[in-house]
Amino acid sequence: MHLNRRNRILRQSSAIRSLVVETRLAANDFIVPIFIDEGKNIKTEIASMPGYYRNSLDITVRQVKELWSMGLRSVLIFIKCKDELKDNTGKEAWNKNGLMQQSIKAIKDAVPDMVVMTDVALDPYSSFGHDGIVKEGEIVNDETVEALVKMSISHAEAGADFVAPSDMMDGRIGAIRKGLEENNHTKTGIMAYSAKYASCFYGPFRDALDSAPGFGDKKTYQMDFGNRLEAVKETLMDVEEGADIVMVKPALAYLDIIREVKNAVSVPVSAYNISGEYAMIKAAAKMGWLDEEKAIIETLTAIKRAGADLIATYFAKDAVKLLH
Ligand code: PBG
Repeated sequence: MHLNRRNRILRQSSAIRSLVVETRLAANDFIVPIFIDEGKNIKTEIASMPGYYRNSLDITVRQVKELWSMGLRSVLIFIKCKDELKDNTGKEAWNKNGLMQQSIKAIKDAVPDMVVMTDVALDPYSSFGHDGIVKEGEIVNDETVEALVKMSISHAEAGADFVAPSDMMDGRIGAIRKGLEENNHTKTGIMAYSAKYASCFYGPFRDALDSAPGFGDKKTYQMDFGNRLEAVKETLMDVEEGADIVMVKPALAYLDIIREVKNAVSVPVSAYNISGEYAMIKAAAKMGWLDEEKAIIETLTAIKRAGADLIATYFAKDAVKLLH
């Protein structure tokens, strides 16, 4: 055979492959989600997320120091709210001395350069387990947005670098931006969960925070997984309203959406490699059906290749160790 082009030339050794690889993961691509509990010296493994824990703040602070020393530069905080503090208004969400606000302060005190992002949504604080206020069986938009603005301002006051609204109410990015401006929080960023789908893959996360919806589902606010153009519409609106970073969530079943969004906007795009995606790899690895380490790197590389500049992932620590 006489061929003008032999594509295997570029694949013949690992040295050559490493010269021409298009997508390379790095520690500063990752956002580490952390789950925080009340109390001291408490560490609870999440049943459906083997190897992942909900920790009290003292343990969390030690962990965040370790994350920083490994080269990780960002955490995304979720807290587990005590049952007796939950109600339909979600008011614990903007309690100045709430667990979230204390956690932001403690982490920023311990590791000032760590980029602290905070989940903004009412579900962990809602007696109904919904992301918004419930009236006559409906999740009401505008009152919820008012609550989210208060919540965001309280996170900014506590020292959060980015607030990350994950609720999918209409108009919340613009309202949060306005609230931050009016309160002189001109350095607080917004990472908007712009294209967040109503997904069955959030199951393990809801176990972690005991935040499953008490009635119905989240389909009146989270997106229908059959839709693609809607993701672009949502994202463009969030950028217009002032989002600094936009997010697609989940990641793995939505790689096409990540690429679509990446091509449509000029702000950084993040993707959330969510709890169910973590659980699938863990379960298959436990059965001996997949090589866990290879699956982690291949999955995260695919998410970056699809267009994610940042990846929130429960595998961040593992990935950093594997990259060395
Ligand atoms: C809540 C929230 C959810 C996740 C992040 N923020 C769950 C939901 O919308 O029900 C999911 C994260 C994961 O599954 O890892 N607003």
